[in-house]
Order: sequence, then C-alpha cells, then structure tokens
Amino acid sequence: MNKEIVLKMSDIVKTFPGVKALDGASINIYKGRVMALMGENGAGKSTLIKVMTGIYNMDSGSLYVGNSKVDFRNVNDSQEKGIAVIHQELNLIPELSITENIFLGREMVNPFGTIDRSLMKREAKMLLDKLNIKESEDTLVKDLTIGKMQMVEIAKALSQNAKIIVMDEPTDALTDSETESLFKVIRELTAEGKSIVYISHRLKEIPEICDDITVMRDGKFICEAEVKDIDEEFIIRNMVGRSLDEQFPRVKVEKGKEVLKVQNLKNRYVNDISFTLHEGEILGISGLMGA
Ligand SMILES: Nc1ncnc2c1ncn2[C@@H]1O[C@H](COP(=O)(O)OP(=O)(O)O)[C@@H](O)[C@H]1O
Ligand SMILES: [Mg+2]
Repeated sequence: MNKEIVLKMSDIVKTFPGVKALDGASINIYKGRVMALMGENGAGKSTLIKVMTGIYNMDSGSLYVGNSKVDFRNVNDSQEKGIAVIHQELNLIPELSITENIFLGREMVNPFGTIDRSLMKREAKMLLDKLNIKESEDTLVKDLTIGKMQMVEIAKALSQNAKIIVMDEPTDALTDSETESLFKVIRELTAEGKSIVYISHRLKEIPEICDDITVMRDGKFICEAEVKDIDEEFIIRNMVGRSLDEQFPRVKVEKGKEVLKVQNLKNRYVNDISFTLHEGEILGISGLMGA
C-alpha cells in the first residue's frame, strides 16, 4: 500500500538549559493513518509535539508539511497548516462553558461582525453528540469530571477541522466508554483522510487504534514500523533499549516488619481505605484520576 506523507520531521534538536530534550528526533505522519508515538517518560514525546505545533522553536532539524518546509513561530502558524493538538495538560478555562471553551479565541461571527452564540452552540452540540457526551453545551467546564474535560479538549481540536490531530496521552483520564467513543471518532477521522498522532503508554491500545508506530528514546528516533508487523515485546524492547527479561530481573525480596498500617480511613475524599506497608516493600496504589 502506498503511504502518503503529510508531515515529516527530521533530526530535530531541542535543548533546554541543562537538558537535551530532543537529540535527533524524527517522525513521519501519513495520510489517513494513526501514528503511535512511543517512548518512556522523559523520552521527548511531548517536546517533539510542541515543536511540531509551534509552541517551541527547534535548535536544528527540519519540518515539512506536505512538500513545503515550514518554520512555525507560534501555535497560530501550525493551526493555519491544519495541525490541531490535544495536550497532556488541560488548557481549559473552568469558569467558561463548554461552548465558550471550544471556540475560545476563534469565536464565530455573523455577517454583521458580531459574535454568533447560537451558531457556536449548535456546532458545540454537534461535536458533543459525535463524542457521545450527554452534558449540555452550556455546562461550565468546572462542573465536569476530568475525563469529560479531556473530551472537551478533544471536541476543541475537532472543531478546528484540522488535517492532522495530535493526541498526547488522551485516554489517561478517560473511562473505558469514553475511550470507546474516542476510538470511534478516530476511525471516522482517518476514514475521512485525516491523520492522527497518538501518544499513549497503554500498550494494549496500540494494536487497537494505531497503524504505524515511531519509537523514541533519550530524545532520539529509534525506529518506525507498521503495527501489524510487530508485537508488544518489540515496542518495549525499543522503548527501553534492552529486552524484557533484563528489564525485570527476578530479585528475591524478603518483606520486613510492618512499618505503617492504615485501617478503615475515611473522610470526604476517601471511603474505608486500609493497607499495610512493610520494610523493603514497594506498595503500589492505582486508580483512575480522581479516584
Ligand atoms: N520546558 C522544559 N524545560 C526544561 N526541561 C524540559 C522542559 N520540557 C521538557 N523537559 C525535559 O525534556 C525531556 C523530555 O521531556 P518530555 O518531552 O516531556 O518527555 P515525554 O513527553 O516523552 O515524557 C525530559 O528530560 C524533561 O524533563
Ligand atoms: Mg509527555
């Protein structure tokens, strides 16, 4: 199958004081396909995305959109070239409604040049329906769950009608059914010929939603492959730079004596929490954001 490159970044270097965040990073994005961008925490994924969208200037390297070389100076430049991004950090104004957040800075106007609220509300409603969100478009963002706020970020990116949509860890705060809705929308977008860059550390999501994968490590490009040709072990091996059995050496650990005991802890945030912690033990606590 012939793949058409819609965006190409090569040999990007980006330095922060004391840190080389990108040190030869490259990525290709193809028309109508989902590119997974993988790498451990700190590998440079978010920085690469911020260079791609004009938030950061690169020190060196090249960025092509289609056949034209571009040098984005700000986010507007990248938006003009059809790139939208859903950042890892939420960028919403809590006191404004869903509609106002979606169109913030890009308010729609009627032929008389005044802001057309009903048109924006209709558009917002359409986007919410598409994402299967039941909340009214007038709901204030501060009254939403974190997952729903993330969905509003996604609606905002969709409203830009971009050719390329970058999603930086979009499912982190989403429930399973919200993730389902997002995947459905991603499939619709690619069917329309749009391209997605998908960052996630949930390895299980990759075969489900992605076509291609680019792996980064220490700010460097490591490899690109088609998802159908690889497996989870390949991804991890390339992300960490060694094989799995080396990553988790079997160390025999004796748990020591009890050092902390929490029993039936309860306040306005938690309900009936109990655990004990022993010497020499690493106790993991997991749950969705806000759990
Ligand atoms: N604004 C910044 N200032 C200084 N260092 C940064 C900044 N942003 C990222 N870094 C550093 O750059 C490296 C890559 O970070 P990042 O792109 O956030 O990685 P990832 O998204 O893959 O977890 C890390 O070492 C991080 O600490
Ligand atoms: Mg990141």
